[in-house]
Amino acid sequence: MDLVKLGGSVITDKGKLKTFRRQVCERLAKELGAAKNTLCVVHGAGSFGHIEAKKHGLHLGYKKDSQLHHVAAVQRDVRELNLKVLESLIDHDIRAVSIPPASCATFKRGAIKSFDPSCFEGPLEMGLTPVSFGDVVPDESTWFSICSGDLIMGALAWSLKPRLIVFCADVDGVYDGDPKINKNATLIPALDRATLSSIRRSEATRADVTGSMHGKLERMLAMAQHCEKCMIVNGNVPGRLEKALRGEKVLSTVVVPE
Ligand code: IPE
Repeated sequence: MDLVKLGGSVITDKGKLKTFRRQVCERLAKELGAAKNTLCVVHGAGSFGHIEAKKHGLHLGYKKDSQLHHVAAVQRDVRELNLKVLESLIDHDIRAVSIPPASCATFKRGAIKSFDPSCFEGPLEMGLTPVSFGDVVPDESTWFSICSGDLIMGALAWSLKPRLIVFCADVDGVYDGDPKINKNATLIPALDRATLSSIRRSEATRADVTGSMHGKLERMLAMAQHCEKCMIVNGNVPGRLEKALRGEKVLSTVVVPE
């Protein structure tokens, strides 16, 4: 089984509230379908989740009653996105079924407390494609919290031991600098812990965006231990995802486990 995350920055315009990138999602669905592998898909929330979640501090848990309206609204919005992704996948002959995070996991302080892999194993055995997503979830300690698609990716990697893990991002992979700012930044084809630490040192003064990228890479390093290959590919470049799924050489960063 191959585990694929469709990043929210690829399937939505992250800067514009609830803006679905339908053409990109349709193409990625086509590539997923063409590879003909057994799949499990997770997608991010992009501008269907992050903007309002941040505005109302939903990642901080319950602080005041007025947040509850936004808990409900963001849950609705990410389901709206999930439905759009399902439509794209089903239109390309992928038998996609939705598995919201709270139906397969419980949460405490923003982390997964328990996870039931049978929610995914059952559909997979039937020849269906489970599709989970980043969501607002009930939280034992903070009432609600944000479950990122990456958290679900980690739990799935650990419990289902996929063959391949692919993260579709809006960049070719991990660079030794920020490619959106620095033209001389070079792509790191294979990233291990030592390389990650050296990037950390040189980027230490950067703001929290890099911080969260490091967190993501830390999680990927852990995930890489449970699969044959764990990689980041550019979902905006046609053909990259399909090639990666076919095992062909493709511009990417492969995360090398310790
Ligand atoms: C975020 O999920 C979930 C919400 C904000 C509700 P992700 O963290 O997986 O989303 P992306 O991929 O960054 O958009």
